[in-house]
Amino acid sequence: MKKLCLLGLLVSLASQVALADTSAAAVQLQEKKAFVDKLLGQMTQDEKIGQLRLISIGPEMPREKIREEIAAGRIGGTFNSRTAPENRPMQDAAMRSRLKIPMFFAYDTIHGNRTIFPIGLGMASSWDMQAIAKVGRTSAIEAAADSLDMTFAPMVDIARDPRWGRTSEGFGEDTYLTSKIGKVMVRSFQGSSPANPDSIMAIVKHFALYGAVEGGRDYNTVDMSLPKMYNDYLPPYRAAIDAGAGGVMVALNSINGVPATSNTWLMNDLLRKEWGFNGVTISDHGAIQELIRHGVARDGREAAKLAIKAGIDMSMNDTLYGEELPGLLKSGEVSQAELDQAVREVLGAKYDMGLFKDPYVRIGKAENDVPDYYADSRLHRDAARDVARRGLVLLENREQTLPLKKSGTIALVGPLADAPIDMMGSWAADGKPVHSVTVREGLRRAIGDKAQLVYAKGSNITGDKAMFDYLNFLNFDAPEIVNDPRPASVLIDEAVKAAQGADVVVAVVGESRGMSHESSSRTTLEIPAVQRDLIKALKATGKPLVLVLMNGRPLSIGWEREQADAILETWFSGTEGGNAIADVLFGDYNPSGKLPITFPRSVGQIPMYYNHMRIGRPFTPGKPGNYTSQYFEEPNGPLYPFGYGLSYTDFSVSPLTLSSKTLKKGDSLQASVKVKNTGKRDGETVVQLYVQDVAASMSRPVKELKNFQKILLKAGEERTVTFRISEDDLKFYNSQLKYAAEAGEFNVQVGLDSESVQQQSFELL
Ligand code: NOJ
Repeated sequence: MKKLCLLGLLVSLASQVALADTSAAAVQLQEKKAFVDKLLGQMTQDEKIGQLRLISIGPEMPREKIREEIAAGRIGGTFNSRTAPENRPMQDAAMRSRLKIPMFFAYDTIHGNRTIFPIGLGMASSWDMQAIAKVGRTSAIEAAADSLDMTFAPMVDIARDPRWGRTSEGFGEDTYLTSKIGKVMVRSFQGSSPANPDSIMAIVKHFALYGAVEGGRDYNTVDMSLPKMYNDYLPPYRAAIDAGAGGVMVALNSINGVPATSNTWLMNDLLRKEWGFNGVTISDHGAIQELIRHGVARDGREAAKLAIKAGIDMSMNDTLYGEELPGLLKSGEVSQAELDQAVREVLGAKYDMGLFKDPYVRIGKAENDVPDYYADSRLHRDAARDVARRGLVLLENREQTLPLKKSGTIALVGPLADAPIDMMGSWAADGKPVHSVTVREGLRRAIGDKAQLVYAKGSNITGDKAMFDYLNFLNFDAPEIVNDPRPASVLIDEAVKAAQGADVVVAVVGESRGMSHESSSRTTLEIPAVQRDLIKALKATGKPLVLVLMNGRPLSIGWEREQADAILETWFSGTEGGNAIADVLFGDYNPSGKLPITFPRSVGQIPMYYNHMRIGRPFTPGKPGNYTSQYFEEPNGPLYPFGYGLSYTDFSVSPLTLSSKTLKKGDSLQASVKVKNTGKRDGETVVQLYVQDVAASMSRPVKELKNFQKILLKAGEERTVTFRISEDDLKFYNSQLKYAAEAGEFNVQVGLDSESVQQQSFELL
């Protein structure tokens, strides 16, 4: 009785607190609205249009002119200027403007700001939300300390076609994993509030479906059914928005024929009405102008009109709003209310970033400016090393080739073995190559004088002159890749010699970072030929061969798999990548990463992702292939499946048990397995839960990830891992876009990757 009363009291207290919270939030919202409305009421039309202009600050922009424009109220924010001494004069100019509306300063702080963490795929490979939160928080702290208010991240575009270069930036192919990471990134960028001095506002991108560009060719069109959108591609954006993302960057692609930038359905009906989003929307670079080339706008005037009507608040680096909105407002084609709504959202974002309270909240005082923004002491190296190690995926390890001993002679070869720029990956914000620990440096430090390290480049990234020129065009500051002019055979001979004198060969091969970048789509997923020649020659030496892969997309490495004794996927692992890789190669850290994206055997299998739809004639391994869905000239299925990754220890998984064979709507059941570390080392693994709807009103995927737990088990330790499954986990959008779970049978699978699983089933009543 007493217990019940106490419980009652607690419940009522909790609900009062919740009510107080909601009403505090409501009051804050009221205050914000009143503030923004009042300010809006004082603004001239030109000042309003000025707020919609977001410009890129480049070396070519005369600073004096920019300051004049700001002081005249004709610019709302910038991106690419990124230190307090650069941004303060611009904010000073804003403070000289008639209404003193502060500027905001944005930047692509995607996987770190100065300290560079692994690229999106690397972060996702950790399946470790604490590690990912560390990336977001550290990035925000560094960016805010440098005067930045906003980041164009997280990028949550689902990527199922690895030909797309921007696959590297996202978190892989899976909706659940990407949504979870997107949420964590938003929360860790923004902290408890985007107004905090050490927080930055998250702008989730690219809304929407950018990862599904046809053929994986960047900027191409997207054509997709509504159920596929709603079930697979849209949830990550929604998750980031529900986590409080202050803004949305709109994608460059069209969706079913209508560019996202002029897509009223996307930005009004879905984003604002259905999802209740009320933050700021920002076009991608030059996207309003591009409406003309998309063929939906006759000229700049029509492009501006379409964009603002569709709900694009800020135009990124194009001049059309400034040039065309006055005329469009005059003629009545764009209403005052439409303009005001866009301005309201921009002012609202500035309010949320705390800029009206203190325009210098992140810029700080001049006397506190840092003498050297690029000082090594400003980096968060421990955090970077910790996250980088967690994102490395051990793909092969025959005869326990790894871990290596810190003794004897190690031959280190390959064009990426000593490549500081590539270590950082694309979108490396303000990371400096001089801060990168390369694999060569990491190995050197790890072995000290215990072993000998012999290095030879072995090959260039590519022997293709056109590709070389393309890649070097991407970097304006420095040569992106350096070509060793010696003939390929000379480079290989040198490496072979190093290998012959060594006990083991470590070859760092793959892609330069520019090969997995915006606009860098590929027609093949192979490692370039000159590097393959190197691998072949190394194999011929008969020495144990360890491949360390650096790349920003799944590669088709079936041939390499046959040559190598061990393969470690390292993506582009950031500032501390070399140390992290050495930690794993020498066993100072036991790898625990799992692939967030499927590795196909060949480019011809694309699209290949684990949660594909069921079909009438599936290929069944072990049965004759005729008249089943397959490619007949090579083995079917992936080279490495989603969720796959080895460890230096072994794990066993017991048969799966369910707490009930039936589930009532509104109830939940438990799925449990015992996982045991059967090896001799402590290690972490990711226990994954998949669900399949056996028969529904429409075909459903063969399986879908619904939960996972990353656990650490000591050698010999066994632990029961339990997942709760509720009706929510079984819901999907049907062909009428009704979101519901349908009664009937469900299969539950639990395993350490998406293919090797234990299965049970239950009935949803
Ligand atoms: C274009 C890219 O598509 C986008 O992701 C990025 O945020 C902007 N440029 C700004 O750099």
